[in-house]
Amino acid sequence: MKILTFAVVAGLALAATQVFAQAKPEQQIEYRKASMTILGRSTAALGAMAKGDVPFNKDVAERHANLIAGLSDLPLTAGAYGPGTDKGAPTKADPKIWSQPDKFKAAYDKFTVAAKALPAAAADQKTLASALGDLGKTCKGCHDDYRSK
Ligand code: HEC
Repeated sequence: MKILTFAVVAGLALAATQVFAQAKPEQQIEYRKASMTILGRSTAALGAMAKGDVPFNKDVAERHANLIAGLSDLPLTAGAYGPGTDKGAPTKADPKIWSQPDKFKAAYDKFTVAAKALPAAAADQKTLASALGDLGKTCKGCHDDYRSK
């Protein structure tokens, strides 16, 4: 029984890997943009709380922070910026992402580090505001260089 369960789970995991491996460029581009949309929404929600435009709520802040941290490096590792994803659907991603992949990865890594630091800061409005400021610099830094207007 245990062996059977393992076989089923392994089979599902393999199927999921293949779905990602076979994702078409347009699917990767959609995923890239959708992940950015979610990052934008959650960052804005945290920003409003950090500034006091809406009342600070620790639980909500932690949920957004955990989402940002968990999502951060996933699109990169899942191939959303991989070879061949520079075209195939409307995109504002700059061609430099594919011509200078190491520099792009460095910009992405800065963002991931800031994103993963967010949950530990989210329980308090002041520490949240500070961590969010650090995160925002990494969003802007990458957009300045790698997102066309
Ligand atoms: C390492 C680079 C990088 C980082 C870091 C980054 N972005 Fe982006 N972002 C991009 C690129 C490239 C695009 C354009 C994607 C496309 O059109 O294919 C984009 C697009 C977007 C969009 C528009 C999505 C759409 O549907 O067109 C939003 C919103 C966004 N980013 C928000 C954020 C926020 C908020 C952060 C920080 C929490 C962030 N981004 C961090 C590279 C980055």
